[in-house]
Amino acid sequence: MTRKALFPLALALVLAAAMFVTLTTGFALAKTSDPAANAGAEAAAATLEYTLLTGGDTGQLVFVGVGGDIDGVINPTLTANPGDVVKITMINGDGMLHDVVIDEFDARTEQIADVDAQDSITFTVDEVGEYVYYCSVPGHRQAGMWGKLIVGTPTGDSATGADIVRNPADVPAPVGDREPQTVRVDLVAEEVIGQLADGTTMTYFTFNGQVPGPMLRVRVGDTVEIHLSNETSSQFPHSIDFHAATGPGGGAVYSNINPGETAVFSFKTLAPGLFVYHCATPSVAHHIASGMYGMILVEPEGGLDPVDREFYVMQGEIYTEEPYGTQGFVHFDHDKMLAEAPEYFVFNGAAAGLTADDTALHAAVGETVRIFFGVGGPNFTSSFHVIGEIMDRVYDQASLTSAPLTDVQTTLVPPGGATMVEFSLDVPGRFILVDHALSRLERGLVGYLMVDGDPDPAIFGGELTEGSGH
Ligand code: CU
Ligand code: CU
Repeated sequence: MTRKALFPLALALVLAAAMFVTLTTGFALAKTSDPAANAGAEAAAATLEYTLLTGGDTGQLVFVGVGGDIDGVINPTLTANPGDVVKITMINGDGMLHDVVIDEFDARTEQIADVDAQDSITFTVDEVGEYVYYCSVPGHRQAGMWGKLIVGTPTGDSATGADIVRNPADVPAPVGDREPQTVRVDLVAEEVIGQLADGTTMTYFTFNGQVPGPMLRVRVGDTVEIHLSNETSSQFPHSIDFHAATGPGGGAVYSNINPGETAVFSFKTLAPGLFVYHCATPSVAHHIASGMYGMILVEPEGGLDPVDREFYVMQGEIYTEEPYGTQGFVHFDHDKMLAEAPEYFVFNGAAAGLTADDTALHAAVGETVRIFFGVGGPNFTSSFHVIGEIMDRVYDQASLTSAPLTDVQTTLVPPGGATMVEFSLDVPGRFILVDHALSRLERGLVGYLMVDGDPDPAIFGGELTEGSGH
């Protein structure tokens, strides 16, 4: 910072200090003349004090507890009971600019850059809950300068919710060779508290309780009759837009319904393909980010060529107030959604959702695999890739009436779009589904395809090395 810039800052600090003195003086005067205010002043004496040192000898952007139970603890969890007056003192331990902020209590220290300088915040906590204290200097919270203040009975660090991950093998049987007919589909808009990650839950909006919603499978020329209900326990209206439908809103104009209501409409499938469906109730991006998307496969006349295994995988982003990895219940963040700055990227609704043994994709050497892959989004295009495989056929943009691309490494799938890919399995092992924008891997976007069978050193041989990720 230049000297020119420093001067106004110093002036602002002096002014702020002057205002502070004025306010405190005002309070002190009231205290002597008014017994009620006097009682308030007594209550304002801190009943709980915590001290946080910035950085300390850790060399990291963190807070280190000083004294008591939190002594030496990095980003200690502070606890209090409703009614406590909490005083948090920040001591600068690293000579970098920092503060301590807790938004819910409108509490913020001055920003301090001098080693050993300190400032305090004092506030009353009334409501049971989990709050976050953090440094508001740009980038510092993201780098790790935050911790929790838990008021009342701690609910425990971790939270458990409903299992919302749809098993990727949950694919309807092929339609095969039949005449067009009317197909009835029942869908229920359900809002559930689901498991986002290990120890972390959030409120999901779903079709039929899982993410993605059920895969639907019809043939071209079928009439699809949709019965969409919105559960009475829902907080929001919901609707559905089928990209496979031809008509305004893809059906959303017929289906925006309040909790407890049911809508019925139908559409004829005019073209084959793999199509996304999603809730179209404003804020649409909020409803999609909360899990309201799925796909319908409209088979061409005569059906698709048979394969040994079919899988159903969709990608989405999740925008939470709390940083990636926070334990407990986390909250949707509208501002981060508008900024397109998600905390999580997910396959089938949850961080690392397709890596557990019972949710991974399973197949065997010699088999052919078909993946119906779509992006709910709402915002990010996927560079879909399977680590260790070459996709023999990619039905680009999920067009089933064009010849497929052959021998593809990575394929682009836009939000509200899909692809159908096929490959045969030559060797066993763990193959990893990713978006090749690999930062997203570190935010939860990963799935496993586990392949059983005998190795074939002529195709893939050598000695496994440490850290091979095998
Ligand atoms: Cu919705
Ligand atoms: Cu759409």
